[in-house]
Amino acid sequence: MNKDVTFALSSAGVGESVARGQLDRGGVAMNKNNSPTFTLDGKTIPFSAGQTIIQAAMATGVYIPHLCYNPEFKPHGSCKLCTVKADGRHTSSCTHQAQDGMVVESDTKEINDERRALLQMLFVEGNHFCPSCEKSGNCQLQATAYEMNMMSPHFDHFFPDRPLDASHPDYLLDFNRCILCSLCVRASRDVDGKNVFALSGRGIKSHLIVNAKSGRLADTGFSGEDKAAHVCPVGVILKKRVGFAIPIGSRSFDEQPISATPHPGPAAATLPPHPQGACPVGPRSNAATLPPHPTVKGA
Ligand code: SF4
Ligand code: FES
Repeated sequence: MNKDVTFALSSAGVGESVARGQLDRGGVAMNKNNSPTFTLDGKTIPFSAGQTIIQAAMATGVYIPHLCYNPEFKPHGSCKLCTVKADGRHTSSCTHQAQDGMVVESDTKEINDERRALLQMLFVEGNHFCPSCEKSGNCQLQATAYEMNMMSPHFDHFFPDRPLDASHPDYLLDFNRCILCSLCVRASRDVDGKNVFALSGRGIKSHLIVNAKSGRLADTGFSGEDKAAHVCPVGVILKKRVGFAIPIGSRSFDEQPISATPHPGPAAATLPPHPQGACPVGPRSNAATLPPHPTVKGA
């Protein structure tokens, strides 16, 4: 209570240590702006009221793996990649509000092992053939697999039969890669006001559908101007006639790992017009500095 405490200030930048003469609010560390703080893997993270753990972490430049979270949208809490331990209990950091004095663990072997298992399940549940995917190098699923050092799919592939929808003149839907993050659903409903997409079914039968009597994208009001056309973290919603405009090896996650890349949501303006995927088995320009490539059985 009366000894100096060293902690980091978000406003001054993470990593800048400041000696403080006392603790506030019954022993809870607060920064010089008097905002509450929690610790994340031992690092002090300031936050403001209402912020979730992942929001506060990202605001201070600390990466927590995530797939269905995009700061432009309300959290969905479905992929569980952002799971952390908060005061010893597993929770989704994208939905769990930060609290004063909370002790959060994220980058631990136990939690990263769980994240890797989730990723492996996602890879085998769909058909992800990264070497031939236009999204390779800009795909968050692939980049997160690299980040979590996923070396193999581990589980047997389902190889589901999911026909493409190429009915729209400008856009292609490849349902094989859908990870059911609902970002396109949220974007179309909440931003575009069109409700073009929806998730249907339950459990293992959950799947993405197009809200048209025919089920075809061409029979909706979908347009390339829609927010929904630009939020897919994987390679489902693809612009036609744009093939490898940026070569593999020069794409976002080829240049730097996802943990060092601004979130594709707010950073969209700085990314290629339609981010397209990194190959879990192909060559990378930064192979020397990143973990070994994960592999996709049957690819
Ligand atoms: S199509 Fe893309 S954005 Fe939509 S639910 Fe599937 S993975 Fe998410
Ligand atoms: S990012 Fe939190 S559950 Fe998906």
